[in-house]
Amino acid sequence: MLSQLPHNDDPRLLSRDIPCADAGIYQLTDDLLLLQSIDFFTPVVDDPYLFGSIAAANALSDVFAMGGQPITAMNMVGFPNCLPIDVLTQILKGGTDKVHEAGATMVGGHSVEDEEPKYGLAVTGTVHPDKLITSQGCHPGDLLVLTKPLGTGLLTTALKAEVLCENDIDEALRGMARLNRYASEAMRRVGISACTDVTGFGLLGHALEMAEASQISLTISPSSLPSYPHAKEMAETGLVPEGSFRNNRHYMPRVTGADHQAQVDIDLLCDPQTSGGLLIAVHADRLAALCEALHQAGDHAFVIGEVANGPAGTMELV
Ligand code: CO
Repeated sequence: MLSQLPHNDDPRLLSRDIPCADAGIYQLTDDLLLLQSIDFFTPVVDDPYLFGSIAAANALSDVFAMGGQPITAMNMVGFPNCLPIDVLTQILKGGTDKVHEAGATMVGGHSVEDEEPKYGLAVTGTVHPDKLITSQGCHPGDLLVLTKPLGTGLLTTALKAEVLCENDIDEALRGMARLNRYASEAMRRVGISACTDVTGFGLLGHALEMAEASQISLTISPSSLPSYPHAKEMAETGLVPEGSFRNNRHYMPRVTGADHQAQVDIDLLCDPQTSGGLLIAVHADRLAALCEALHQAGDHAFVIGEVANGPAGTMELV
């Protein structure tokens, strides 16, 4: 997510005029857009190979959300000199394997000494201008489809607190390491209205950014949101990540109907996601085809709500 960019007159910088663009969009030629995105974070799991895979899948996600193809990736590494170098080797192997799975090439990177390990990628991709998918383009009557369950923020917080172990959250770990590539290819084949990926602002934040960009409202039923095993249990115990409170404070003022909802469902709605799924708006006529294509790709297709005609940039919970 881009914000607070300095003023720039370059007419080729298309992302300046697309609210909530997931990556930088730069027009190279009449039929080629350059997509650039970067993300990195501290370990969400102990296993270094898995951490590398998840961080890379997360960083590659923006290009897939925009309907693009990643071409190259560069490592961004922070690493303490007190840790064995084999840990770093495993992180980089996890990241590189994921980049290859994405169909891209790892071209290098940069590392600095740091107190805590940090890892992620700078990703460069391309897309034809006619094939670019953004968060603009939702129409009233479109259905909202989510391709991964929610709850990774709650579960990784519980992991850090040692309330759960990695075995307990196996499904979420596989979900976070899964590329959005296959879901992206499926939605491109079917043809959809708009898409964004669900990451740190939670489903609530990213859905509202979509509503804002498309100048429409969204209707979502929190009690039917899909979640990974144990995520709701963790919310019930009150073990909620800090980012969830931030999302709640920032976005809830644009939401109506929250008073009738259970707190765990609100927690899930606000839960910051690591390498979350795609949130896709699709015309009702194409919903069945999209769900079919996603299932064939091995992805989930949760229908979680719809696009409505209410005040632009708002959400109604029902
Ligand atoms: Co994104």
